Amino acid sequence: MTQTASILDGKATALAVRETVAAKVATLVAAGVHPGLRVVLVGDDPASEVYVRNKDRAATQAGIDVATIKLPANTSQADLLAEVERLNEDPAVSGILVQLPLPKGLDEAQVVCAIAPEKDVDGLHPANVAALVLGTPGLVSCTPAGCIELLDRSGIDLAGKHVVIVGRSQLVGKPLAQLALARNATVTICHSRTQNLAEHVGRADVIAAAVGVAKLIQGDWVKPGAVVLDVGINRGEDGKLVGDVDFEGASKNASAITPVPGGIGPMTIAMLLSNTVLAAARQAGKAHLIED
Ligand code: GUN
Repeated sequence: MTQTASILDGKATALAVRETVAAKVATLVAAGVHPGLRVVLVGDDPASEVYVRNKDRAATQAGIDVATIKLPANTSQADLLAEVERLNEDPAVSGILVQLPLPKGLDEAQVVCAIAPEKDVDGLHPANVAALVLGTPGLVSCTPAGCIELLDRSGIDLAGKHVVIVGRSQLVGKPLAQLALARNATVTICHSRTQNLAEHVGRADVIAAAVGVAKLIQGDWVKPGAVVLDVGINRGEDGKLVGDVDFEGASKNASAITPVPGGIGPMTIAMLLSNTVLAAARQAGKAHLIED
């Protein structure tokens, strides 16, 4: 029998998250705290420009004081670090996001380390990575946080499940593994050197694909009833956006699957707004006002 997966609608769920965030912004503003976000875009990578524009618009709609700081591709490391330092010291700025990847020649790790951890709404600073591993309060990377939020709001519990993550990036794979572990999942991380990828994926109750290779995960690898999170955003040969999973094929086996676009992408933006509001509240000593 052919099963047809239900769609995990990230777009609709992200809108619900953004409404919650907007309400929290209103609460904070009434208490004299205005969450502020600064997005730093270096160079003119077209994909990054689209992402940054979407983040800026969503933040504005939530009532966050947002500005995008555009720097030329030939910006020096020292000038970029000086900009980050200026934002660290600006009390109107609660959250700082430096869009990645940076142009060649700039040291991303050093830039990320320069961001004040309490303003690091991307959750990439070593202090926030450590907090995630230790289970102490910090800021969690937006895309993996969006994956978990989407599962939570779809009523999918990870406890005891086998989560197979394909991709080991700092931005998605590694932090998602920690979040899934914290939800009591059994976690496997696969990557470019993994042997017998299909067999690992075939054992998953939940598959999270975050490698950036169009349709790498084939439909017949997916165990009947598995849940599929497709984090990939790739351009297909026809110019359309496609994920890391063969959506058509996987839909026949999965019980639930995220589409591309309209799946994890919108959730990433929603979690950025959520992190910004949390950061603002904590910096003002008013986190209690926005606790769920
Ligand atoms: N580039 C692609 N995704 C992201 C993200 O979540 N944060 C940043 N800073 N850059 C990205």
